[in-house]
Amino acid sequence: MKNIIMLIAVLMSVVFMQWNAEAIETEDKGAVKSIVLPVIEVDLKEGAGKDKADEFCNICHSADYITMQPRFPTDAWSAIVHKMIVVYGAPVNEDDSRTIINYLSSNYGTGK
Ligand code: HEC
Repeated sequence: MKNIIMLIAVLMSVVFMQWNAEAIETEDKGAVKSIVLPVIEVDLKEGAGKDKADEFCNICHSADYITMQPRFPTDAWSAIVHKMIVVYGAPVNEDDSRTIINYLSSNYGTGK
């Protein structure tokens, strides 16, 4: 008698474990989760070189990183642009970087 009760208990726990595992699997199936990131639209000031800043300076972050800065002298903008290239890997060549630095200095800096 004891053995039969034990057998039934074991069988029931196996059945329950199986049922539980299926329930967990079904929960995960087809559960596609997505998030929507906010798009921060920033219109940079019109000026020579804006096209290059638009092209390269909002690949990794929004262009408000530019507009939020204090008015830096050219040297400081140059250091920032080179940091983007050297440290973070911004794909900007030397010619374009000069254009962008002049644009930033004239429109978001002291101009000298
Ligand atoms: C390859 C990715 C990448 C590109 C392209 C890029 N940046 Fe950045 N930028 C970063 C990262 C990473 C940070 C640091 C983010 C942080 O600290 O929150 C940053 C930060 C900044 C900051 C904040 C101040 C600082 O020094 O950290 C400014 C200003 C900035 N970027 C300007 C620019 C400009 C101008 C361009 C266009 C030439 C540019 N970024 C292109 C990755 C990039």
